[in-house]
Amino acid sequence: MRSPKDFFAPLALGAPEPLRQIPVRPSRMIHFFDPGNEKMAAKVPDIAKKVDVLLGNLEDAVRADRKEAARAGLVAIAKASDFGGTQLWTRVNSLDSPWVLDDLVTLVTEIGDKLDVIMVPKVEGAQDIHYVDRLLAQLEARAGLTKPLLVHAILETASGVANVEEIAGASPRMQGISLGPADLAASRRMKTTRVGGGHPGYLVRTDPVGDDLTAGRTTYQQDLWHYTVARMVDACAMHGILPYYGPFGDIRDVVACEDQFRNAFLLGCVGAWSLHPVQIDIAKKVFSPSPSDVAWARRVIAEMGDGTGAVMIDGKMQDDASVKQCRVVAELADELAA
Ligand code: GLV
Ligand code: MG
Repeated sequence: MRSPKDFFAPLALGAPEPLRQIPVRPSRMIHFFDPGNEKMAAKVPDIAKKVDVLLGNLEDAVRADRKEAARAGLVAIAKASDFGGTQLWTRVNSLDSPWVLDDLVTLVTEIGDKLDVIMVPKVEGAQDIHYVDRLLAQLEARAGLTKPLLVHAILETASGVANVEEIAGASPRMQGISLGPADLAASRRMKTTRVGGGHPGYLVRTDPVGDDLTAGRTTYQQDLWHYTVARMVDACAMHGILPYYGPFGDIRDVVACEDQFRNAFLLGCVGAWSLHPVQIDIAKKVFSPSPSDVAWARRVIAEMGDGTGAVMIDGKMQDDASVKQCRVVAELADELAA
């Protein structure tokens, strides 16, 4: 039987840089839709023109009695549509659910040639990825697929966070990891009731001014997800895969959504989920470097010549390390423009 290694021979660990060759395709927003919802499904062809990734969701937010309809809806949509350059992903049900086996068998058999990435929720450790990896290899071989399906894990359990490094490196199929703040909050027994984003109670106060300890002091909300996003980014960078912020549930609060997405972008994430069309443009804006940042990065790269030594530009010292940061920004701009 063909093993995943046959698909990934050029990706063998120990290969010279770049270690992993996951095709670079923009994935600034992973747009979720319920394939069993006819109204939503009818909008898919239009939405597909506006997003980098379209994801047919089969897991949470789809009622238990609608699971089969969602799965069948995704098969029908994928068979009937050509999404051009837009990637098609799915989020299957969790590995401890009664639906996931049928999700994987049906989707790989019926539309494996149309799907790019399978998102696996509630991943606890490398063993979950190994299981999916083997099953996908068997199903791909049976279906005669030549393009391997990639795997994306959601980081949304305490044990998943504890094992994030081994999850990121568990298979050459690993495409990336998303933060799942809602399930993670429950798994950790956090005292929040939101889907992602900040909390007005999680804040810092400025020091009191003068002797007046009772005066109202300025407060600043903190990023509840900073630790996990930073840990996830490091694990992904170490294994050459891509990190994402997940969902932001307060659809009306576009300012907080943009702030949360931007924090994630600055920390290294390449995209986030969009749960509503209004979040598509937010993600596009946030996860594309601004023209002024790109212009600055290109100027530093040009003035640094071979990239070694130090130069002063507008009073700021630049050296080998800053030119590397500038290359990250310039390369991202090039990839998005390609
Ligand atoms: C996403 O699945 C989450 O739980 O936040
Ligand atoms: Mg979840």
